[in-house]
Order: sequence, then C-alpha cells, then structure tokens
Amino acid sequence: MDPSKPVKAVKNAVEDVVENVAEKAAELLPSEVPGSPGSAAPSVERPTTPVEPLPPKTSQGAPDTRSATGAQLGCPAHLLGQQGEYLTTAQGLRLRDTDHSLKAGDRGPVLLQDHHLREKITHFDHERIPERVVHARGAGAHGVFEGYGTAGELTMAGFLAEGKQTPVFVRFSTVLGSRGSADTVRDTRGFATKFYTDEGTFDLVGNNMPVFFIQDGIKFPDIIHAGKPHPDTEIPQAQSAHDTFWDFVSLHTEAQHHTMWNMSDRGIPRSYRMMEGFGVHTFRFVNAAGETVLVKFHWKPVLGVHSLVWEEAQMISGMDPDFHRRDLYNAIESGAHPQWELGVQVFPDTPDQMFEGIDLLDPTKIVPEEAAPVQAIGRMTLTHNPRNFFAETEQVAFHLGNLVPGIDVTNDPLLQVRLFSYVDTQLTRLGGPNFSQIPINRPHAPVNDMLRDGFHQDAVHAGVAPYQPNSLDGGNPFPTEDGSFVDTPVVVSEARKVRANPVSFEDHFSQVTLFWQSMSAVEKEHIIRAYTFELGKCFHEAIKQRQLQCLANIDPVLCQEVATGLGMPAPAPTLETVAVEPSPALSQVGQVWPGDGRMVGIVMDDNDDVAAVRDAIFAAGMVPNIIAAHGGKVAGLPVQRTFATARSVEFDALLLAGCPAPAPDALPNRDAKAGADAAPGLDPRVQLLVEECWRHAKVIGAWGAGQQVLDLAGITGAPGVVGGDDATAVLAQVQELMGNHRVWERFPVSVT
Ligand code: HEM
Repeated sequence: MDPSKPVKAVKNAVEDVVENVAEKAAELLPSEVPGSPGSAAPSVERPTTPVEPLPPKTSQGAPDTRSATGAQLGCPAHLLGQQGEYLTTAQGLRLRDTDHSLKAGDRGPVLLQDHHLREKITHFDHERIPERVVHARGAGAHGVFEGYGTAGELTMAGFLAEGKQTPVFVRFSTVLGSRGSADTVRDTRGFATKFYTDEGTFDLVGNNMPVFFIQDGIKFPDIIHAGKPHPDTEIPQAQSAHDTFWDFVSLHTEAQHHTMWNMSDRGIPRSYRMMEGFGVHTFRFVNAAGETVLVKFHWKPVLGVHSLVWEEAQMISGMDPDFHRRDLYNAIESGAHPQWELGVQVFPDTPDQMFEGIDLLDPTKIVPEEAAPVQAIGRMTLTHNPRNFFAETEQVAFHLGNLVPGIDVTNDPLLQVRLFSYVDTQLTRLGGPNFSQIPINRPHAPVNDMLRDGFHQDAVHAGVAPYQPNSLDGGNPFPTEDGSFVDTPVVVSEARKVRANPVSFEDHFSQVTLFWQSMSAVEKEHIIRAYTFELGKCFHEAIKQRQLQCLANIDPVLCQEVATGLGMPAPAPTLETVAVEPSPALSQVGQVWPGDGRMVGIVMDDNDDVAAVRDAIFAAGMVPNIIAAHGGKVAGLPVQRTFATARSVEFDALLLAGCPAPAPDALPNRDAKAGADAAPGLDPRVQLLVEECWRHAKVIGAWGAGQQVLDLAGITGAPGVVGGDDATAVLAQVQELMGNHRVWERFPVSVT
C-alpha cells in the first residue's frame, strides 16, 4: 500500500480488492453448508502470487472503527487487521524469509542479533493473557438492538426509544470451566450484552438463570472456590458433580434455589440461541420526570428455551466440545440470525422494595411471571460472527457499572459487590487501566474523561489540564446536567453498621419448591436423575446426607427418589412445607417453536436422490448434513459426514433415505462404532445413529429403502417416527414434530 496516497484513495483501492476477492470466494465455495474456515477455498499447491489479505467471511463483523475516545474513523473495518500483500515485521519492514533463523553458518549457533527472530519469538512468548476467573469459556457475536418505545414512560434511556437501533456485542459463557473446557457441561450460562448507545456504553451482564447461589457478594470467592476443581488435584474440570460444590451449597442453603435450576434442564442448554437471559438483580428505571420504578430484565429467545438430554450432553463433550460455539457461529453464518426480545417485570419503587411478599433485593428469589408479566421493550438480533476471537470475544470487558441515564442500580448486596469486582479483575486480565480503549470496548459516544496515561494508552490527549476546574484548557471538560447520568437520590435510612442480612433473606426453600412443582413430569424425571448423578459422584456420605436433608425440605418425592438412587435413607423434613402456587412459565415443555438453524442428518446410499429434500431443509432455514459411507460426493451432493465421522448428537433430527449395507470400513478394529449390534445387511454405524436418536427422543423420518432401517430397529410407527413413500411429505411431518423440540411422549414417567 502506498502511504503517500490520500486515505480515501487507499480505502477505495482496498475495497476494490475486497470486492474482487469476495467475488472469487463466492465462486469457489459452496455457500449453503456453514463451517468453511475461510472466505476462499484453498489451492492444493502452495500459493506463489502475492494477494491482498483475503476478506473476512461475509457473516463476520468487527468492532466499529472508533478512536480510543469514541470518534468514528470511517475506515473499512478490515483495515484494523493485517494489510498489504507482503510479510513485514511489526514495524512494517518487509521480510524475505521467516523460516530460517540467522546463524553463524548453516550448522552454527543462532545469533542474538536476529531482530526478526527475537521479535517473533518474544511476541509469541507473550501471546496469552489470564483467562477470566469465572466465565472463562465463551463465544460472542455482533448484532443490533431495536427499541420498541414501550418503556418510554418508565425510563429516559435513549436506546429504548421506538425504532432506535443500537449496535451490540454479546458474549455467552459457562461459569466454572477453563477457557478450553467443553461447552455442554452442566452449569449456569452467562449472557452478557454490551449496548454501544449514543449516551455511553450500557452493559447488561446476566445469566440464563434468574437467581444466584448467594445473597451477598462477599461469598462469591467461596462459591467459586467450591465449584472449581479441587485445589490439590485440579479435578474435576467444569463440573459441579463433586464434593466441594455440594459441601458448600448444602451448608449455605440459600444456594438451593440456584442449584435446582442447575439440576434442571436449564443447566444443559441445547444452544445459546435457545436460552433465556436474566439480569437477576432488581434494577431501577428513571424517567425524564425523575420518577422511578424497579425492574427485572428478561431476554426471551424467539426460538424458545430448549435443552440437551444428559447423555447427549456428555457425549457431545467428547464428540464436539465446541458444540455451543459452533452452533452459534454456524447459525449466524447460515442466516438463521438468533433473536431475543428484551422485557422487564415492573414493580413500584416502594421504600421496602418488596413485591407481594418477595424481597426484590434478594437475588435468590424470582417474581413469577404470572404475578408480574414480562413487558417487551425491544428486540436483539445477532447478525455477525466476530472476525477475531481474541480481539473481540476474549478482550471484551463487561461491567455492571456501565450504565446510561435512565437505568440505575439498587442495594442488592450481590449487585453492590459486582460493581466493584469487574473493573478490578479486568485491570489484571487486560493488563492495565486502559481496557476501555481496546476496539471491542470502545464506546460509540464521545469520550472526554480526565483519565490519563497507564499501560497501553491509545489516546493522544491534547491540553495541559486534565483536572477540574481548570482555567488553562478553557475549563474543558465541563460537567453538565444535560444528558448526564444522575444517581437516584434514594433515601438511605439511619442505621448501625452491621454484618447481617435482613430477615426476609432467611427463606431458602419456598421458591425451590415452587420451581419443582412448576415442572412437567418429564422435567422432574431429569431433575431427579441430575441430583442422583451429581451426588452419586461425591465421595463423602456426610455431604450426600446433608444435601438429602435439603431435598427433604424442598419435596418428599424428590428426596425419596434421589435417596433411593444413592442407596441412602430419605430424611424427614426439618422445615414445615409451605403451600406454593406453581408458575407454568418456568416449564420448557408444551409449546411449539421455530426450527431455525437446526441440524438435520440425512443418511443416504450411493444411488439415493435427496436433492429436493436437502433444498427443502435449506428453505426451511435449517441445515442438512449428508451422511454417507464415504466422503466426497454422493449422487452429485457433497457429503458432510461419513458413517465413521457422524454421531447422532450433532443432529436435531435424522432422515433415512436408504438402508446402507455395511461399508468396507465397518470393521470394529478400524472403527469401534462398527462393533455396535446391527441387523444383517445394515451398516452398524447407521443402526447406532438411529438408536441414539431414539434414546434422545429425536424425530426420525424415513422414506423408500430408509423405512427398512425403521423396521430393523423395531421402531416403525412409534411416537416421533415418520415413515412414508414421499420424501417431501415425510420431511413436512418431521419438521412439524421438531417444533416440540423432542418427542417427549416416547418414554414413560414415574412422577407426576
Ligand atoms: C458478587 C458476585 C459476583 C462477582 C464478584 C462476580 C465476578 C465476576 C468476575 C470477576 C468475572 C470475570 C470478568 C472478566 O474477567 O471480565 C465475571 C464474569 C461474569 N459474571 Fe460475574 N460475578 C458475580 C455474580 C454474577 C452474577 C449474579 C451474574 C449474573 C447475573 C454474573 C454474570 C457474569 C457474566 C455473564 C460474566 C462473563 C462476562 C463475559 O462474558 O465477559 N456474575 N464475574
């Protein structure tokens, strides 16, 4: 690139190149099935002609090109990355060789003077930064939020105005696991959203569960130490099924509500796209007249709330530990842009901050939606994947204290501690105090602070008087009332300094019972199984016994079933059971939802014709994967999975177009899956696929010879199993059944 050219000319030249390469990429790549690693197909031969860096995939977005102080730079986002066709050092010096270090002779020692070697190795040596102390494992996406204007009377927050569009970046995460841990472990999921509003950045840092383990943030290090791997063995990774976790939650019984959510299907979501999000704490809305209400934030996924089944989650942890990350990336790439409605439950801002007997400052409590309906105030659509995971997803820094006029905090003692913790940890994680200047964290509102210097200072501040008041810089920057954040002048009543909770925080069980009683029978079965599994993995009887006592105080049937599984006596309750009104909104079962971005496997033989069905699946907004005996193409269609590489857990539904005979590689010594029991004449890996889909209550469809597989598996005519001669008609029925997520009626239940 010629540095003497004016910026606009350079910009145009780059855009031309980008367009040309994008056209070339479009010619080369099959567009429909997501997952291609780059925007252009590679050549077999090593490329020899220099080209400009290839453009990112069209499904990828990047942080807006803003200066460190929020000004729009207006250059194309790809200029934030590498430029030009020739290899250079970090100083822009062209290099002719990066494969050989400078040596005293070709068999001699490496010379210290090799500045390129030193720069390359030194930078590499420092590539890692500390992972987050919690929520280390995550995936992010760019999107846009559009306000409905329905919150206009409650809050002056500008981004909630009708039709107002605000860019967002979202990061979903697990809590306990390290950065490289599996996505589908049983855990709470983080759901953090950064709104780049005109009035400054607003962060809504929530979870996929509306309650938290503890009532007071001072216990946060304790619950996390208990959930993380044991300090002596560093086992187990990303799991709550171990002694220290259950030791803590059975001793701090306020954790029982959150623990029940974890043991429910909410702990193993099918997809980040299919999770609710909750702000957990109660926040305060302030309108233009200074009037306030208390609110709880909810994200409602347009695709509904859905989960894995436990065996599936465990298998995925091995088969595809990146399952949720991949699902989000692939859905966005295939055009199934995930959406959520943002809603609020609204409560009067009374001095006691209670609503119908529920303490709104207690983060272990919900307010049932039946008592305070969620009112929709906007919609978020995730439109682009990040271009660079480290730059965006890893370096994004959320903070509850990033507020805008019209949204304020409350005295929830968990929230209060969080207000301290996030910036504090980011000082270490992101290497100094200037992390808000990292591109993904740059506000889209003008920044005129008096913060100066520090590691990685990107701004070049002018002026001599970064203090207030001053006369040397003309008094700039001026504090103002105009559009500024005002701390709500809440009355803090005279009180003694104490280390204590209010009495209203003492009820640890009634809402856990409420949750249990709101579940459908199949969800209760899953909860029983989850407690039995988790406690069954604990070593010490005393811990199991203590947790059983908690279950006895929640529900006698739950306690008895888990105790039976553990081979222990069920204790009698020590608390009086309270009558609760179930909240149907808590159950995930019983509604019909869209299937956008769902994965459909199609098993086919060499001669089967599935082109029309494959097209129909694309047209329905889902992603078909052809599964065949070998890779390459079958009947002119690209094969995504072979019998050797496919596993049922990747698919939401399975279609059988043929009844493939054992392939040449169906040898147990080559592929242990081929050792599965199979009917004569059927490839055992196909039988295994069908069996697992059956076991995980997935819809199975078959036509033509595929129906023989149903017969051989003995499931013809069973619930959620569709057979027929017409492939398109079978697909239509399969799609309809998929709207229920799973074939829940396939298995009997023992509890009501
Ligand atoms: C006092 C209690 C809590 C403390 C001290 C705390 C502390 C932290 C810390 C230190 C991080 C790592 C942040 C970073 O490195 O950038 C974090 C991340 C996170 N926390 Fe908390 N947390 C608390 C409670 C909660 C609660 C109640 C929620 C949900 C409402 C929550 C949601 C999250 C999320 C979503 C992240 C990940 C943010 C991201 O994606 O970067 N935390 N928390």
